[in-house]
Amino acid sequence: MTSSMTIERLRSLSGIKPTGQPHWGNYFGMIRPALELAVDHQAMYFIADYHALTSVKDPKALRQDSLGIAATMLACGLDPAQTLLWRQSDVPQVLELTWVLSCATSLGLLERAHSVKDARSKDKDLNHGVYTYPVLMAADILLYDTDVVPVGRDQRQHLEMARDMATFVNVAWLGHAAGGTVDDNARWDNKSLKLPRALVRAEVAVVPGLDGQKMSKSYGNSIAVFAPAKELKQRVMAIVTDSAPLELPKNPDTCNVFALYKLFATADQLGQLRANYAGGNYGYGHAKLALLALAEAHFAPLRERYQQLIAKPDDLEDILRDGAQRARAIAAPVVDRIRSAVGLPAHPQWPA
Ligand code: ADP
Ligand code: TRP
Repeated sequence: MTSSMTIERLRSLSGIKPTGQPHWGNYFGMIRPALELAVDHQAMYFIADYHALTSVKDPKALRQDSLGIAATMLACGLDPAQTLLWRQSDVPQVLELTWVLSCATSLGLLERAHSVKDARSKDKDLNHGVYTYPVLMAADILLYDTDVVPVGRDQRQHLEMARDMATFVNVAWLGHAAGGTVDDNARWDNKSLKLPRALVRAEVAVVPGLDGQKMSKSYGNSIAVFAPAKELKQRVMAIVTDSAPLELPKNPDTCNVFALYKLFATADQLGQLRANYAGGNYGYGHAKLALLALAEAHFAPLRERYQQLIAKPDDLEDILRDGAQRARAIAAPVVDRIRSAVGLPAHPQWPA
């Protein structure tokens, strides 16, 4: 930049759990928007391995999936020279902030979390980690004075909770007026916790899975971003449709294949498919093949890059180590600031 004034870029941060293969919902809902933000934001993305521990009890899988997420982000275009990429657990300061936030979080707030309600209703393991998940997630975000958090719609509530926790800390310990006046980043005072904003893209807020429900690893309805060609075809062919006969016109706006096609198609391609649906004599099998062609063209080069990256785990580790070091340098003064605000002594040595 030639201007004598430095314009501060907003900070964008997000995390993804290493709990299996990333799928189209992760890619369109979070990964791609996050990487697009990296163009004009200070972007920081991490692998949420502490979070994954709530459900993953297989250390080998956790290690492998963590590297898998790193390779995925890089294959999708993350430039590690510009964008920080690290493993959450390499910045232990996050646990310190988690504790302070825990003391600022009522049980009532945690009880309202969708993640807790979901675990209860499905009889999942409701361990303490699941219960306090939103607190750790808030710490992930607040630890880096984050401005925006690109996520899918399912994470919106967690962002609201992070803002509630930050506001509580700012009011209880930093003397901010109750009612929240620190929303405006321009007036942020560099001492308090910054209130983050969720960035949810409407067109990809909820990517549907094969059955039309939200695509999710845990629903068995997902298509992996790097599925090999054969698996990709099987998954696309398994998308659920109604049983309208071939010759009849079909409604694209209620069709799952069409909804997924939209993710890849240009306006012209979408218009053409819409016309094919309206015209009749066009079956869901045809639409699935059209979707498959676009998906394969989109993901094949990324898949190849992913294979090259995952074959070199030491290089991935180097990138993560470097990212963690840079992340710790941002986190350490924030934790020190908050320790001081709440009356704890200056910190002993953090790993630098
Ligand atoms: P999953 O629900 O499959 O376990 P994660 O919780 O790991 O996925 O989600 C990682 C990121 O991807 C989050 O930002 C989440 O909002 C986003 N995401 C997950 N599934 C979808 C989806 N179906 N549509 C849009 N975004 C999604
Ligand atoms: N909870 C998010 C998910 O399930 C992952 C996550 C953890 C996250 N910490 C975060 C996302 C901080 C954004 C910011 O997908």
